[in-house]
Amino acid sequence: MSTYRYPRPDSSEITPEPVWQSRRDWMKTAGIAMSSAAIGGALGSIPSMSLAATAPLASLPSSPSKQYVLMEPATPFKDASSYNNFYEFGMDKADPERYAHTLQTTPWTIRIEGEVAAPKTFDMDALRTLAPLEERVYRMRCVEGWSMVIPWVGYSLSALLKQVQPTGNAKYVEFISAVQEKNMPGLSSRSIDWPYVEGLRLDEAMHPLTLLTMGMYGKVLPNQNGAPVRLVVPWKYGFKSAKSIVAIRFVEKQPSSSWMKSIPSEYGFYSNVNPEVSHPRWSQATERRIGEDGLFAPKRKTLMFNGYGNEVASLYQGMDLRKNF
Ligand code: MTE
Repeated sequence: MSTYRYPRPDSSEITPEPVWQSRRDWMKTAGIAMSSAAIGGALGSIPSMSLAATAPLASLPSSPSKQYVLMEPATPFKDASSYNNFYEFGMDKADPERYAHTLQTTPWTIRIEGEVAAPKTFDMDALRTLAPLEERVYRMRCVEGWSMVIPWVGYSLSALLKQVQPTGNAKYVEFISAVQEKNMPGLSSRSIDWPYVEGLRLDEAMHPLTLLTMGMYGKVLPNQNGAPVRLVVPWKYGFKSAKSIVAIRFVEKQPSSSWMKSIPSEYGFYSNVNPEVSHPRWSQATERRIGEDGLFAPKRKTLMFNGYGNEVASLYQGMDLRKNF
């Protein structure tokens, strides 16, 4: 009998079921010895147990945003870069930091295609210089019940999307993450339909808060946080913010995201942070702030649209947010 245990007492409640079921399969495929050290790492008790020496991250200069300022202390970088979800590298929160050094981030391009007059491919130099880089401190809320405050570096995604002239048929935008068979041990798990795909309605994608993100804490993104370029949509649960994006596709019909395909009863298209609509297996009314509160400290109340209601509530006027979860 295996002595494998889950990272936190309530993990089986908060982790999507196919994910925790496949965790052990994945560990077997990845050939991870179930030694006490490996188990300790999986349990998060040895957070700095990195298999590769991590190269220092290059700085990414930006100007502080005047519009998007948050008067809350940022989560320590150490926590934001060691407690991650990036299932291409494994199911445990510590796996991305441990294994994502294998991600090949150069050369890197984003292809923009679909319902556009001028499809185009952008390399990282083009992306970094397309619009002035801003530092925006955003509140992030994961569907699993934890939150962080992260100073991201990027610019509004709309600046990029405007370059390709979407046609009148473009109603939604799909975001497709990288698949690197040899470099991503988590791909052997079939709990997600790879590549990781997310989607937004066109007006959500064009909203100025939606950030095309190339850095955090003044540096380029660490691999585990979605290098070299990802999305950040702060009023939605964290899984909408696709990492390591290689393609953006304009489409006419509402796309199905990886999570909608995986567990349709639990994950809808909109996924707006909403304390009034529970996940089928747990409440979304409160959250635990990573790095600030201890595991047993009182939880914070989750805010509607993660506190960005003034900016985005109008996008959903007249919609039943219980049906459109
Ligand atoms: N993007 C890809 N490609 N693969 C993933 O597994 N996980 C999502 C999202 N983007 C994920 C992804 C989830 S569930 C969350 S909560 C956030 O990334 C976590 O981002 P962070 O690790 O930078 O905090």
